[in-house]
Amino acid sequence: MSHPSEPASRPSPGIPTLPGWDTTWRLARDGYAYGIRGYRQVGTDAFRTRLTGRAVVVARGAEAAHVFGRPDAFTRRGAIPRSVVHLLQDEGSVQQLDGQRHASRKRIMLDLAQEERTGLVDAFRAAWPQVAGEYAHRAVPVREAASLALTRAALAWAGIAVDPARERALSGDFDAMVSRAGAVGPLNWAARVRRRRTEAWATEVMRTLRATGDRTTVAGRLAHHEDQGRRLDDGTAAVELLNLLRPTVAVARFIAFAVHALRTHPDWASQIGGGEPAATRWAADEIRRFYPFLPMVGGIASEPFELHGEGLDAGQWMMLDLYGTDHSPELWERPDVFNPGRFASASPLTVVAQGVGGHLAAHRCPGELATTDLLVAALELLTRGPAYTVPEQDLRISLRRLPAEPEDGMIVVFGA
Ligand code: HEM
Repeated sequence: MSHPSEPASRPSPGIPTLPGWDTTWRLARDGYAYGIRGYRQVGTDAFRTRLTGRAVVVARGAEAAHVFGRPDAFTRRGAIPRSVVHLLQDEGSVQQLDGQRHASRKRIMLDLAQEERTGLVDAFRAAWPQVAGEYAHRAVPVREAASLALTRAALAWAGIAVDPARERALSGDFDAMVSRAGAVGPLNWAARVRRRRTEAWATEVMRTLRATGDRTTVAGRLAHHEDQGRRLDDGTAAVELLNLLRPTVAVARFIAFAVHALRTHPDWASQIGGGEPAATRWAADEIRRFYPFLPMVGGIASEPFELHGEGLDAGQWMMLDLYGTDHSPELWERPDVFNPGRFASASPLTVVAQGVGGHLAAHRCPGELATTDLLVAALELLTRGPAYTVPEQDLRISLRRLPAEPEDGMIVVFGA
């Protein structure tokens, strides 16, 4: 995982056009490094181009993050390919709403994902040793074991009881939805079939909670949430339940990167293993900043805006480059070096892996603090919990594969 280190590019007025009529092929070729290579070519941190034939501005850095993160400045509707919307956040979900309805739905998501996160983390701490025991003495990709532990934790936290077969099926379905989000054609269709199956299950869960009048568990509170005085319909409530469960399971990808970081940075591994709370939290934030997860987020401007001294119209499509911003020399010293110690002075809020702007008003991820706390717990469990070994394997991470992961899948053997 490397891209040639680059000097901080000087903001020059205006937004140049990347050569070529349409650069979708470059996105397929360069993956996460698409933006970074483009900025290097045009000499500034924003460029105009076309993706799938549509005119777009791609940008990174403090100004772009600020512009993109202003409340209600960009709508997500129609801003990312439909196939991806379907798998990550379904139509009708909080992410697809704007204005008043977005604020109301976002409030309940924050109340649950942020305010109630301690219960989720405790459930994960309980699930991890169980899952390590269930996988003992065989080679397993960390992501698979972590997905199962997170599924178990998320269901327990939400207050939903399922049998082991359903738990395993859900864990596989959630993981596959994220794995296949970047795919087109049959792979994506297969993931959409899984999605429909999972939605049918979630709709049934919501109906039952409504029938039993449960208003206290996390899922029960969601089932009874009212938007402008009206309860969500069964399908929408089910989609929002999945919007809490699915991204929680996606934290498994960061946990696989945590194993990678501990393996490749023994100095930090021994500080974390020694019970240094600050070092552990810094490492969790550095994992979110350093490793490739979501490459970009897109939005359509709701009003005219200015970027790099140039005026842009309402209706302009913009992609904010999350990976490029988290690797920008303007914001981070030696951005391509893994160094948790940078958070001794840097703010974790500068990390944009989970979106920009305020947690309530903008589209910033309401699960950001839960993600960090889950990663802190994972780092503690990986250094002081059930023993495991890391067999010899290819630890390289290609920036072209989306979503990225270590080449051989970050295999471990528990109980060794
Ligand atoms: C696995 C790590 C995660 C990453 C990389 C991530 C990333 C993001 C990003 C970038 C957005 C904003 C999308 C946009 O504006 O276009 C977002 C929104 C969202 N995330 Fe996360 N997230 C993660 C974990 C979580 C967790 C653990 C939860 C819940 C417990 C969660 C729930 C949500 C919800 C409900 C939204 C929609 C919010 C809105 O549009 O207002 N995420 N996430």
